[in-house]
Amino acid sequence: MRNRKYSYIGTKQINPVFIAVLLLLLPEPAFSFPMLFRNTMNCSLLCSCEHKPLVSTMQLYNVKHFKIMGNKYRPEIGFFDTNSEYMTFLGTFAPLLHRITEITCTLSDGMSHSVMSLLNGVDQIMDTALSVSCRKNERVVWDVPSWLTSFNIFVAENCLIVPNADRKLIVIPMNTWILDVDNVGDQTLGLLDIRFSMNTLTLAISGSKLSTTPRQWQGIDMVSMAVISLRNNGLEEFNCPFHFTKRLDTLNLDGNKIAHFPECLLRSFRIRLNYLSLANNAISDLAPLYEIPEAWDIPDISVINLSFNQIRSVDAIRNMANLVVLDLSHNHIKYITEDAFDYLTSLEVIYVSHNSIHVIGAQQFKNNYKLSIIDISDNFLPVILPEQLPMDSSSLLLDVRQNKLTYPPYVDCAKGKLNIFNMKIYSSGNPYICDCYMIHFERCQSWISKNSPSQQKDFNVFKDLMDMLCDTPEETKDVALPNISFHSKCYMMEECPETCKCLLLNVQVLVVNCSARRMLDMPDHLPTYPKTTVVLYLDHNPLQILGHRPYLRTLSELYVHNCLLTSVTPAAMASLRDVQVLTLHNNMIQKLPSRTRNITLNQVKNLTLHNNPWACSCDSLWMPQWIARHKSSLWMPGSITCHYLRKPVQDLTELDLNCNSSSYIDTFLAISLTLSSLVSTLVIVICYRSEITVLLYSKLGFPLGCGFSCGDLFNPYDAFISYSQDTYNWVMDTLVPQLENGSKKYRLCLHYRDFPTGDSIVDSLPWSIRMSRVAILVLSKDVMRKEWCILEVRAAFQRMLLAANRLVIVAMDYINTDELPPDMRTYMNTHDYLRYEDPCFWEKLELLLPPKEQRELTESDDAMPRNRSRESFHQSTPDKHEMTGLSDLTDLSFKLSEISEHGDY
Ligand SMILES: *[C@@H]1O[C@H](CO)[C@@H](O)[C@H](O)[C@H]1NC(C)=O
Ligand SMILES: *[C@@H]1O[C@H](CO)[C@@H](O)[C@H](O)[C@H]1NC(C)=O
Ligand SMILES: *[C@@H]1O[C@H](CO)[C@@H](O)[C@H](O)[C@H]1NC(C)=O
Ligand SMILES: *[C@@H]1O[C@H](CO)[C@@H](O)[C@H](O)[C@H]1NC(C)=O
Ligand SMILES: *[C@@H]1O[C@H](CO)[C@@H](O)[C@H](O)[C@H]1NC(C)=O
Ligand SMILES: *[C@@H]1O[C@H](CO)[C@@H](O)[C@H](O)[C@H]1NC(C)=O
Ligand SMILES: *[C@@H]1O[C@H](CO)[C@@H](O)[C@H](O)[C@H]1NC(C)=O
Ligand SMILES: *[C@@H]1O[C@H](CO)[C@@H](O)[C@H](O)[C@H]1NC(C)=O
Repeated sequence: MRNRKYSYIGTKQINPVFIAVLLLLLPEPAFSFPMLFRNTMNCSLLCSCEHKPLVSTMQLYNVKHFKIMGNKYRPEIGFFDTNSEYMTFLGTFAPLLHRITEITCTLSDGMSHSVMSLLNGVDQIMDTALSVSCRKNERVVWDVPSWLTSFNIFVAENCLIVPNADRKLIVIPMNTWILDVDNVGDQTLGLLDIRFSMNTLTLAISGSKLSTTPRQWQGIDMVSMAVISLRNNGLEEFNCPFHFTKRLDTLNLDGNKIAHFPECLLRSFRIRLNYLSLANNAISDLAPLYEIPEAWDIPDISVINLSFNQIRSVDAIRNMANLVVLDLSHNHIKYITEDAFDYLTSLEVIYVSHNSIHVIGAQQFKNNYKLSIIDISDNFLPVILPEQLPMDSSSLLLDVRQNKLTYPPYVDCAKGKLNIFNMKIYSSGNPYICDCYMIHFERCQSWISKNSPSQQKDFNVFKDLMDMLCDTPEETKDVALPNISFHSKCYMMEECPETCKCLLLNVQVLVVNCSARRMLDMPDHLPTYPKTTVVLYLDHNPLQILGHRPYLRTLSELYVHNCLLTSVTPAAMASLRDVQVLTLHNNMIQKLPSRTRNITLNQVKNLTLHNNPWACSCDSLWMPQWIARHKSSLWMPGSITCHYLRKPVQDLTELDLNCNSSSYIDTFLAISLTLSSLVSTLVIVICYRSEITVLLYSKLGFPLGCGFSCGDLFNPYDAFISYSQDTYNWVMDTLVPQLENGSKKYRLCLHYRDFPTGDSIVDSLPWSIRMSRVAILVLSKDVMRKEWCILEVRAAFQRMLLAANRLVIVAMDYINTDELPPDMRTYMNTHDYLRYEDPCFWEKLELLLPPKEQRELTESDDAMPRNRSRESFHQSTPDKHEMTGLSDLTDLSFKLSEISEHGDY
């Protein structure tokens, strides 16, 4: 037999000599010109046959195998190179001169075919490439004699390859350069005999179901093997059965069931791998990589692919001087030690995306100064700092998309001497907090555009800037970072009181808006920003006391109107010395601390005190003077009136009060007189005018200013329930559970549990009504007989009626409207009221109650049905607001006494 095949013998260096020798040995025709080949072949009917230049066929298959060689990450094999090591075994000139017969067969008859029959009569001197694809799992019987030197490439897919009847194994002939069988049948891998295949360059077998490599592979010298791919075979371990040479480029074990990193691959003795893939296996631990025995030298692998495994943590990987790419993506990594990659001095690319990393070391990549790609996308990193990245971060691509970053990396890039212009950062998909800290990022952005060395207009280090979206605060959600001007307006999140909004305007004014947040207390702290003035809105809150807070001194404006303020503490007043705007109108303040007398608000531009029940007593005689002093800034000084005297405070004189001690009795008489006349007026009004008033207000729907109705937004309770003894059981067992524990979870104010201790119903009624958005009056015989006769009760409800529909009347079944008092009857005639017998009672009641949505702001998880007794309410309620609401009311008297301890009252 004429042997004109080139066997691989040595390394590149000796090749030219060797080739020259071979060329001399070659018979004439073999390396003559193409026209000398026979153009007619008797080709099998199932196949097509064609002569092709050897080099193009090799290129075809080489390119096909690029993928299993990891070409995506190996630019050096991105194209076919006739001079590559892959081709050298063919000799330098052979690929250029020679042709190969390509036989391509498609089987779809479901039958058996022998390889030789497919090769039918093809010149056995010619190099031959056979490619078979089966449609119905045809059997391909391997009857190729092991001495057949012209059978060079065998490619098959979806065929069941079985040995010849008289053989047990599938023997691969020595000159088979490429064996690439895909989906070969469960057992085929185990039958492969590669003892003779000295010249095999690529061995790619997939789709068999074998847990270990075949026994007959043990100890074989794979002298020319460059690419071994045993993908998708169900291997559970890999013990390096053959002896590799340093020629081996790729070992791809993707998609098996390997549970441990094959230790044998770290023996540098024979192995020098460019690409090792263990992706899609079941490796949970990288132990062999942490402790490579000294005697083994440094493993020589360039790319290790460990993606899609079950690795949970990464420890310090030992020195691998040539490791350039490490793929640890799609694992379950939670923890990476800080020195994990410190010994990988050549590392250029690291993928740890799609893991569960919450934190990386303070100097995680600092020593990997060759790194050019860091992909940590799809993890849970809350922060990434420049210190964690390679020291000399020139030309680095950093991918931190889909993490939990609250600020972009290099947020502060304008500071320091960072050179980030060679960086590319991808950082979208993070829940950015768009608060005032982003001012730094805004500065960074303008710094970049000013200092960018490249002349490009749109140059940016942040490559997906437009996709970097805000997550919080709510107002900026899903707005792109560059679309916001943080300098002109940004939110301060840190230290901002819960439920309030803190807005920094033009980096000059900090506006803290706590308007209508149903706050029962003043906030303890406010955020601070250097060189800003602070404006605080506390209006429309059920506050009772304006107390001292350290921040008061820094305020330039304070709005506390429309609250339930009863007092201002002396310390608070003193702290407000430099305030420019102070609104205290529409409160329940009776006096200012007497220390105020000596305080002049020098800076004040607008000061409001009207609509407060000023108690003009002998110790407020300083007020007219004080008002006169502030007249220029006081808003409507004329309407600051004494509650009982009905006289502007500014006109108050000693004569009005009769403050001389001798005339104490006179004062008493005067006050009693005033009081009694007031009471009688009220009685008259209620008894004779109420029908008219009710009619008027209900028909006109006239809202009576803010005096009473402003409570709607901030009231701690949704409804106050007033009932009598005879309806107690119904209220407790039916009404309360239905409302508190129904779909809407209303907060109810009930006197048995929510009233300040010891206060009679009559005393606390006005409070309860102010604290609630509506009142529900359960109308029963008892109510009509007892409560309605109490003047105060009537008065309180009267006010509810006036203040725009805040009363819901529920009439028990037996109530006869004709027997009601005239005012009640009028109200019921002009308004909807509910009868309990109404089949749609609950639906209608819900309609009459205030809508729940507005209240979400401060609602906590919420309102479990509370126990009936007071004690257990205190212990068991999880509801902070209600607790404070309650204690605030009960503590009121205590607080007042505390205030007077300052000696100012
Ligand atoms: C690693 O293997 C996975 C799965 O086959 C592949 O998607 C990925 O691109 C590979 N990574 C590298 C660096 O080759
Ligand atoms: C191929 O064809 C030649 C004639 O062209 C014939 O002699 C030979 O037997 C055929 N070979 C086979 C295997 O059929
Ligand atoms: C940002 O603004 C541009 C135009 O100024 C607009 O086209 C884009 O939709 C905005 N993007 C976001 C996310 O707000
Ligand atoms: C404060 O916030 C409330 C509700 O969020 C808003 O209606 C009001 O206009 C704000 N006030 C100021 C001064 O921004
Ligand atoms: C106010 O100042 C006067 C003297 O200027 C002083 O006599 C008086 O005690 C001061 N009052 C208070 C409450 O500090
Ligand atoms: C002062 O405050 C009141 C109440 O907030 C407001 O109505 C009025 O316009 C203000 N006056 C000035 C001069 O700003
Ligand atoms: C109160 O008594 C003082 C003298 O003690 C007297 O000067 C003053 O006029 C009296 N005021 C009134 C209102 O009687
Ligand atoms: C409502 O009350 C019923 C019993 O009356 C109880 O089973 C249920 O858990 C309560 N639901 C809530 C949300 O408290």
